[in-house]
Amino acid sequence: MKPGDKLIKHYLQFKDLRTEEYTYLFDRARIIKARFKNYERYQPLVDRTLAMIFEKASTRTRVSFEAGMYQMGGSVVHLTTGDSQLGRAEPVEDSARVISRMVDIVMIRTYEQAKLDTFAAHSRVPVINGLTNEYHPCQILADIFTFIEHRGAIRGKTVAWVGDGNNMANTWLQAAEILGFKVHVSTPGGYEIDPAVAGIRDAGCYEVFNHPLEACAGAHLVTTDVWTSMGYEAENEERRKAFVDWCVDDEMMAAAQPDALFMHCLPAHRGEEVTADVIDGPQSVVWDEAENRMHVQKALMEYLLLGRIG
Ligand code: CP
Ligand code: NVA
Repeated sequence: MKPGDKLIKHYLQFKDLRTEEYTYLFDRARIIKARFKNYERYQPLVDRTLAMIFEKASTRTRVSFEAGMYQMGGSVVHLTTGDSQLGRAEPVEDSARVISRMVDIVMIRTYEQAKLDTFAAHSRVPVINGLTNEYHPCQILADIFTFIEHRGAIRGKTVAWVGDGNNMANTWLQAAEILGFKVHVSTPGGYEIDPAVAGIRDAGCYEVFNHPLEACAGAHLVTTDVWTSMGYEAENEERRKAFVDWCVDDEMMAAAQPDALFMHCLPAHRGEEVTADVIDGPQSVVWDEAENRMHVQKALMEYLLLGRIG
């Protein structure tokens, strides 16, 4: 970066933003969502272009970023590994230099976080993590916004994480540290969270339980994810055996607070990590959670490109 260059703000991990920036973003997401529901046009990003790079499959991330950018007046370029030079081993540094000269903001879904970090280090424009093996910050942004909509502040509350110590679990831990809540984590042996990978400093923001039912006791939110994340398909059979007791069911929901919510980032496998009764039941807010991806990401793109409004 040369002297006088504008400082670029990326969103590569949940901890890239501070507590008060989240307060601002949740408020903006609420306003942006209300305008959308009211059919009010809000186009602060006219002439801005978002490049979306997908090295893994997606439904929600693709639709929420693409629809969100168009609604804000901007446009979108969609790239995948298969149809770009990324799949033919063009260095990620060169891809970042080129793409970021032509667009205003970039969203990337890829494998290793290191690749995203390298892209961001060579980008002239803000880069957003649309999921890596290690983190999924946009999803947790939506999940916490959804919690706030339904139950108010998350500070001081307990979130039960039932399942794999994966990208979602790591990001919940980062969020707990920044926003002041606690995560009760229960994973099968061999699939534990690694605080170094999660990137947290405060061991007090989570507690580990051997049994998922214990993790759910008293929780205000129970959440889970697929047994096998994208990129780990070769371990599928092994995981199906290891995770068999990590299925969120009525008994686990009954152990949580009477008004506990259930969330899942989706896509879900009914009968594996969650029963149909729970995900399709009255405590589940998974459809609000999915929709809220779009509203929070609109607030995020607005913030990264325009700074604070008003
Ligand atoms: N939750 C989520 O990121 O969904 P997609 O994989 O469909 O984008
Ligand atoms: N942990 C899952 C989340 C999918 C949105 C994965 O990485 O595949």
